[in-house]
Formats: sequence, structure tokens, C-alpha cells
Amino acid sequence: MKQIKGNFYQKDIVSVEQFTREDIEMLFDKARFYKKAIEEGAVFDDLKGKIAVCLFYEPSSRTFSSFTASFQRLGGSVVPIHGVENTSVAKGETLHDTIWVFQSYSDVIIIRHPENGAALKAAKTAHIPIINAGDGTGEHPTQALLDLFTIQDRLGRADEVKVAMVGDLKYGRTVHSLTKLLSLYKGVTVYFINPPASPMPEKIVEYAQKAGIKIKEAKSIESVISEIDVLYMTRVQKERMDHETYEKIKGLFKLDNRLANKMKKEAVIMHPLPRVGEITEDVDENPRACYLKHQMRNGMFVRMGLLKLILSA
Ligand code: NCD
Repeated sequence: MKQIKGNFYQKDIVSVEQFTREDIEMLFDKARFYKKAIEEGAVFDDLKGKIAVCLFYEPSSRTFSSFTASFQRLGGSVVPIHGVENTSVAKGETLHDTIWVFQSYSDVIIIRHPENGAALKAAKTAHIPIINAGDGTGEHPTQALLDLFTIQDRLGRADEVKVAMVGDLKYGRTVHSLTKLLSLYKGVTVYFINPPASPMPEKIVEYAQKAGIKIKEAKSIESVISEIDVLYMTRVQKERMDHETYEKIKGLFKLDNRLANKMKKEAVIMHPLPRVGEITEDVDENPRACYLKHQMRNGMFVRMGLLKLILSA
């Protein structure tokens, strides 16, 4: 049976809705510990003898390798299923059966799937912890955790922040999870800047507003650039819409260095990546740019903390 004690040990990570602010602090303490230690050259064997399955039905660069690196940096081993073309899924095996197969060999399954709700379904089947690494247009909880960690790390706070989320807010799962996670903090304002055809789902807007987040809509990045603390850019989710819609909404919002320099000096520019033209390369050297540096590296430390809390008492 799962769910023994605490808010992480042997638990599934399906949605950010499951976290309290105390959970986040506990996790970030661990992540900060690993960050400092790894930067100083430490080597860990906390998860020695443990096996994780990375079961990815969708393409991934960062999330797959970040989970793999995190698990291995803690001394564990990973069974990598990077695309299911060469598995029995291609023969028609159900998610239920696939989960039964992989839980026979491992201590945790990290799953990415094109269907909304697939991680929850897997969690209901499995008797070992399931971590949602992105379920369709649903959620991407560990991305939101590393985003929040990066915001706190760079700004020194997550309360009283003004965040602009830009791009395909309807289909982008990272912004869904991040909006909900920010709902744990006080005095947060979130600006949504999106193509008319791709608004933030109403359910998430309501969730955030109920928690006290101030939601505002803006027409352009320019109109909010000088007041925001975080600019969170995202790509249009080409694979989740028809060609006609994609052609209509792609390339509407772009950040270049001229615009980036209008931000407050201490503000941060983030992107879950991959970028496909939303941020021009001249922004990369801007001191506010976090996406290629802190954000990705922090992901590894946050996932190390999470895996440790889930797998060791
Ligand atoms: C994101 C995802 O898969 O949702 N990428 C990631 O995990 N860092 C964002 C995206 O694909 O646009």
C-alpha cells in the first residue's frame, strides 16, 4: 500500500494541487542542500539499489534527462523508455498493463503521456509512486516546482510577485501548473498574454482567483514589461492543435533584447523550453535570462530533493 507518512514519502506526484506551502519549503530545503553540495563536488548514494522507470510516451529533452540525472546523482539506476515505439504499447498494450509491467521491476515510475489524466490513471493502477512528467494539456507539476524554486532563488521571494505568462496558455501544461502553484503565495499578480484562440482554461483562472491571485489580461508584452518581476515565455503547442489554428497563432509574441532591456534590473526571464522563436538568441546573454542556465540546472536539484523525499523515510 502507498501513502505511509508525511506528504512525500511513497506518494504519487500527480498535480500541484496536492502541495501545501510547508511541503514546498521542505522540498526546497532539500533542493538547496543538494544544489550547494553538488556545486561543491559531493557525490551521493542515498538511492543506491533503487530503480526508476522513465516511461515517456511523448518527446522530451530536459525532463527525461533531468529525472535520469537526478536519480543517478543519488546513486540509483534508471530504466529508460524514451518513446514507446519499441515497446508492447505499439502492439496495443493498455496503460494499465504497461504500468503493471514496469512496477514489477522498479521503485518509482516517472511518466509522460499525451493524454490529460493519464498520470492519475497510472497512479490508481500502481502500488509504487507515480510521478507526472507531463500529461497532455493537463499538468507538469515538477516543471512548476523548478520554476517556483527559480523564482524564489532569483528574486528572494515568491510572495508579492508580478508574473506575466505569455503564449499558448490553453494547451501549455507548464503554465497550468505554475498558475496553480503560485496560488499558495500572497499578493501575487499574474498577467495572461495569449492569442485570443488560446486562453488560460477557465477552471484554472477560477482556482487561482479563489486563492487570492490577481489575474489580469494584457494585449502585449510591451504593455506590462516595466512592472513585472517574471516574464514566463512559452511556445505554441503545435502538436495539440490543427494546422490552421497553429498557423493563425504562431509567432504572435516575441521577446528580443531591446524589449528585454525594458524590464526591471532584477527581473527574470524564464521559459520551460523548447523555444521555437519566442525568445531571440540575443536575449541569452541578458543578465535577466534564466532559461538556459539557472532554470534548467535547478530542475535537477529540485527533482533530486523530490525523489529523495518520495523514496527514503
Ligand atoms: C514543456 C512540456 O513538455 O510541457 N517542456 C518541458 O518539459 N520543459 C514545454 C513544452 O513542451 O512546450
